[in-house]
Amino acid sequence: MSTETIGVIGAGLMGHGIAYLLAAAGHTVRIYDPSAEWRNTLPERLESARALLGGDPALLGRISAHDQMPPAMTGTTFVFEAAPEKLPLKQQLFAELESLTAPETILASNSSAIPSTRIGEKLKHRGRVVGTHFWNPPHLVPLVEVTQNEFTSDATVQKTIALLRDAGRKPVHVRKDIPGFVGNRLQHALKREAIALVAAGVCDADTIDEVVKSGFGARMAVLGPMEQTDLVGVDLTLDIQNTVMADLDRSTEPTQLIKDKVAQGKLGMRTGEGFRKWTPESANAVRERLRQFLAEQAKAKK
Ligand SMILES: NC(=O)c1ccc[n+]([C@@H]2O[C@H](COP(=O)([O-])OP(=O)(O)OC[C@H]3O[C@@H](n4cnc5c(N)ncnc54)[C@H](O)[C@@H]3O)[C@@H](O)[C@H]2O)c1
Repeated sequence: MSTETIGVIGAGLMGHGIAYLLAAAGHTVRIYDPSAEWRNTLPERLESARALLGGDPALLGRISAHDQMPPAMTGTTFVFEAAPEKLPLKQQLFAELESLTAPETILASNSSAIPSTRIGEKLKHRGRVVGTHFWNPPHLVPLVEVTQNEFTSDATVQKTIALLRDAGRKPVHVRKDIPGFVGNRLQHALKREAIALVAAGVCDADTIDEVVKSGFGARMAVLGPMEQTDLVGVDLTLDIQNTVMADLDRSTEPTQLIKDKVAQGKLGMRTGEGFRKWTPESANAVRERLRQFLAEQAKAKK
């Protein structure tokens, strides 16, 4: 595997994890972030990721932080953008990246929802623009959705997939640049039904979580829904769909219940209540449980 000089735009939640995993794979990583606050806390956050995963301390020496795009991005072969989720900002960053990098440098956006077609629409060389949707935290969750837009070249997709695979990720090729890609469409199809069930008084939010965690969620990390369909039989799945499909929620906009929660300031763990009630201790316990679980999975797969 060749080692690359890779740019990361944004040293936030996603950017620092992306930088960590690429440096752990042996690459040199230059992070650009205009915020001194985010740059100053970067070493501590990177060290925390390293300690959790038991990585070689030397890998942190391959990461540098910069307050200007040039010269940091000059000479990079890949750039992963993880700046705030605002289209004009991302378009401006990509235009600047085009002026600083060679035409073959791959420019990847980690946007959760903005199509890379829009982000790269003003560029001259659009074949090198690709979506790389990492999941939070990117150094612990292996999936990356590599989304090909109508201009992305096949070579860009292949090189991006190869780089990510060599870095221990599980890249998948998404062939259309559609809202939510694949993962968030699946996740939000489930959330639409979950919120509708709570709104209809069928069960409370705690019960939804119990049904998922102790039920089909317990096997999902090792058995995907298509495998599970084949395991139980496609014919059985058809029978079940014949009974339930007409009854499933099919709202084309967010359920009133979630809009009401937001209007009432019930935003979740950070305000003490969302669909469930939280104390700082119970919220931290959930965060720590998740972090430890994902770290164990990541170490087991090494
Ligand atoms: N948080 C998630 O769970 C998640 C998951 C997948 C994708 N994403 C996407 O990743 C991107 C980053 O999200 P995040 O959660 O890391 O956000 P974040 O707020 O933690 O980090 C954003 C970083 O961008 C920096 N920044 C601000 N203006 C900038 C500029 N002009 N140029 C460069 N950097 C700038 C900020 O200082 C900050 O460090 C977004 O597009 C988001 O939708 C987030």
